[in-house]
Amino acid sequence: MSQVVGYELRGNIGVITVDNPPVNALGKDVRAGLVAALEQGLADDGAKALVLVGAGRTFIAGADIREFGKPPAEPSLPDVITRYDEADKPVVAALHGTALGGGLEVALGCHYRVAVPGTKVGLPEVKLGLLPGAGGTQRLPRLVGAQKALELIVSGEFVAAPKAAELGIVDEVIEAESPLEAGLQFAEKVTSEKRPLKRVRDQEEKVAADRGNEALFDEFRKGLEKKARNLFSPFKIVDAVKAAVDLPFDEGMQRERELFRECLESPQRAGLVHAFFAERQIGKIPGLAADAKSREIKHVGIIGAGTMGGGIAMNFVNVGIPVTLLEVKQEALDRGLAVIRRNYENSAKKGRLTQAQVEQRMELIRPSLDYGDFADVDLVIEAVFENMDVKKQIFGKLDEVCKPGAVLASNTSTLSIDEIASATKRPEDVVGMHFFSPANVMKLLENVRGEKTSDEVIATVMSVGKKIKKVPVLVGNCYGFVGNRMLHKRGAEAMTLVNEGASPAEADSVLTGLGFPMGQFAMSDLAGIDVGYLIRQERRKAGEDVPASWMDKLYEAGRLGQKTQAGVYRYEEGSRKPIPDPEVDKLIEEFRKEQGITPREISKDELLERQMYIMINEGAKILEEGIAIRASDIDVVWIYGYGFPAYRGGPMFWADQVGLDKILDRVKEFHARFGDAWKPAPLLERLVREGKKFGDL
Ligand code: 3HC
Repeated sequence: MSQVVGYELRGNIGVITVDNPPVNALGKDVRAGLVAALEQGLADDGAKALVLVGAGRTFIAGADIREFGKPPAEPSLPDVITRYDEADKPVVAALHGTALGGGLEVALGCHYRVAVPGTKVGLPEVKLGLLPGAGGTQRLPRLVGAQKALELIVSGEFVAAPKAAELGIVDEVIEAESPLEAGLQFAEKVTSEKRPLKRVRDQEEKVAADRGNEALFDEFRKGLEKKARNLFSPFKIVDAVKAAVDLPFDEGMQRERELFRECLESPQRAGLVHAFFAERQIGKIPGLAADAKSREIKHVGIIGAGTMGGGIAMNFVNVGIPVTLLEVKQEALDRGLAVIRRNYENSAKKGRLTQAQVEQRMELIRPSLDYGDFADVDLVIEAVFENMDVKKQIFGKLDEVCKPGAVLASNTSTLSIDEIASATKRPEDVVGMHFFSPANVMKLLENVRGEKTSDEVIATVMSVGKKIKKVPVLVGNCYGFVGNRMLHKRGAEAMTLVNEGASPAEADSVLTGLGFPMGQFAMSDLAGIDVGYLIRQERRKAGEDVPASWMDKLYEAGRLGQKTQAGVYRYEEGSRKPIPDPEVDKLIEEFRKEQGITPREISKDELLERQMYIMINEGAKILEEGIAIRASDIDVVWIYGYGFPAYRGGPMFWADQVGLDKILDRVKEFHARFGDAWKPAPLLERLVREGKKFGDL
């Protein structure tokens, strides 16, 4: 008998248990084991019915994602499920935890499904660039109708047990001590009542009702054109569900198989699976002491009630952690609290929160004008403006008032954590927690490790990051850390491209073409033209050679971006849509004249290469310096912090697909043409020499 699937007789019920930690994924051993255990159960005269259950924390969470892209191994999942479907004894799937993807498909192939409260079910294959390929697109519509099936499969949404019962996906939610108990109870009922086998494949009523309803599918596709324009698998899902409605079951299954293979082979699947594993790698920190325990964070202090501080505070109160919010002036405090309240009230208007929840959350925020109120906090996050002297003063003060063991974090986006830490006598407790704006929405959190930050503090900020539902990535200390360091390189290059002759809209369009939600200049307008201007001015003051720019002229003309309805683009009242503005074209032309530049036409390829390869080259430097632990961490930063399309796997994965040799050739060429900004990263040169990719590191 297989190690990962067991069979035993309990009274007159045969129990099949999948035991393949951590999530009982359907690798080839599990598939073979499922067939063997079924055969044993069917041959067992003592078993009147069978119960299928998962050991450990969950039922089956899906196909084994690590097998995608490898040669298929028998038995295939659809074949396994057909065996269960065709069994001549009733098979009850007893669900707990998360029954997802192939796991739910196995359950749909059983004759009955029960769940314990707290179970979630779903077909999330779309998030991996796939569609349910083991009957999910054929069986689910037979239970819930085509419309609901489309909604569930295209969103990949998880459905809680009570809702799943209401929809008819599970037959009953049973309060029992264990899923096995629930399964046994139900199986006994089925045998004692001699219920007939209920096969989902035979339930024709719902799909028959949708047959001929072309409008349903047309409408759904139209919606996708808006929401999922660049994606591959959602459209294939519509084709597959349509096949469930139009074709007899077996033919529908065949069609599903073909469409599944198309998705499996698509580059989007490769990118999304990479992103899935990349996200699960970020918590693995080589060299961190094994006994580095995370400190308990029960109360947080935040300095600065501006946009950042307020947004950061919301993350904590959203998960029930009280926050003391500190400002220097009462008016600033009142203003900050009013913004937070308005955000919550807006969520309430949209039905996402009740008014009582709004009040509960507001009550968890304790406004303060006194550092003394930080005496008991476990974590402080400083979120004031970017000025080293001010930050050092604040950290000196924190050192005086905070209890020993409190974690002292700065939300700086560019400044040195080590220098900030030097203002305290406890640099081991100082760390960066760099949130992205709007901080209550954006998922990325760059946790910045200083030279002296202790392992315990690192473990704490990584775990608290997860607790507040962020995607925390540990990065090293340098100007801009990972994300902004790469972004600023791209920003400078985009500005130069416009100097040379491109229009801002042309430069942006290659990035949106790649799948970014917006290009560099639309992003500058969102962040505020003043932000970049002030950074350039600071660098000029510090004696750096930062050349004059047409973007300085925008600032001087009061075009500060979306907030003034004019920046690189213009904006109509109440709209965030960037519209190219002839005024800006004029200003750029003037600038070129002043600088003696004769504009030239720049190809789309060059626009893309110069904006992307400069980032990749910088990413290679970041890796080499150990600022990022892994290339895939950089991918996570860009997917969650800057909207890099997950279906391309992140910039470093994308670079591997483009070919590092091709990229290096161009980097060298640009280096010769444009100078030091393009100095090839030694790591990139080494990888090319060795015929390797970032993914091989
Ligand atoms: N295959 C292989 N490994 C998997 C896996 C899967 N389907 N699902 C999770 N894992 C691994 C993770 O990589 C992680 O491994 P690690 O500890 O070595 O890093 C471990 O299981 C635990 O996963 P999480 O850290 O994500 O644990 P959580 O408790 O936070 O979440 C979960 C659990 C909700 C099950 C989440 O892991 C998840 O969403 N998994 C993917 C589910 C999915 O997409 N299923 C569909 C697969 S495609 C399919 O079934 C095709 C079929 O239609 C033919």
